[in-house]
Amino acid sequence: MSEPVTESQQITIALSKGRILDETLPLLAQAGIEPVDDLQRTRKLVFATTDPRVRLLIIRATDVPTYVQHGGADLGVTGKDVLMEHGGEGLYEPLDLHIARCRLMTAGVAGAPVPSGRVRVATKFVRLAREYYASQGKQADIIKLYGAMELAPLLGLSDEIVDIVDTGNTLRANGLEARETICDISSRLIVNRASMKMKHQRIEPLVEELRQAVARGMGQPA
Ligand code: ATP
Ligand code: PRP
Repeated sequence: MSEPVTESQQITIALSKGRILDETLPLLAQAGIEPVDDLQRTRKLVFATTDPRVRLLIIRATDVPTYVQHGGADLGVTGKDVLMEHGGEGLYEPLDLHIARCRLMTAGVAGAPVPSGRVRVATKFVRLAREYYASQGKQADIIKLYGAMELAPLLGLSDEIVDIVDTGNTLRANGLEARETICDISSRLIVNRASMKMKHQRIEPLVEELRQAVARGMGQPA
């Protein structure tokens, strides 16, 4: 019979639900970690895995850094946009998973002039938008929204938005144009700083296995 898993050996990984989850699960599977339950068929939030030392939390992307920072999870996977907006306190970021790739951009109504003075900017990335416009020497009034940012310039709420762009289809479908790229985005593995010290014997090999899984994936055509 196998030894019972003690709490100090237990690893909790917080995963972002949605598109990041779909791309994270194959990487975890290559490290021998697969959820025991069918994720689509349950209302559970905590999942046992095929590795008795590992359990998964499946939560909103924006909550992942907070859970990991406060030790509710040892590791997490979330977008670089979310991490930068959070600030990254208490976190290590050892690995770029190269999944959920996109760009953080400014956008506005197609063909509309870019305001020369103060710019009204609607976004859920308040911190990043403030830093970006300041770095450009532009004065910006930031309006916080939680979704459907594309509506704001169309309805006169703002001159520009700061949002995620991948194919550009969402902008085009709403009569907007991409303007400046603020930064390239992909999802990252993050680790609680205290966990990295206390559980390094378990975490370091896991990071290495994921690093190899990412490298193998990057060798394949998209
Ligand atoms: P929440 O539910 O917490 O508001 P969300 O709706 O932004 O999160 P998703 O749309 O699944 O959740 O996006 C999660 C992450 O995936 C983003 O933070 C970003 O890093 C990345 N992402 C978002 N949109 C795209 C896209 N169109 N293509 C590629 N990656 C994307
Ligand atoms: C994301 C993002 C953009 C869109 C960009 O939304 O918020 O709206 O993708 O992708 P595109 O450039 O390929 O169109 P998502 O589809 O995740 O929906 P959401 O607004 O519910 O997050």
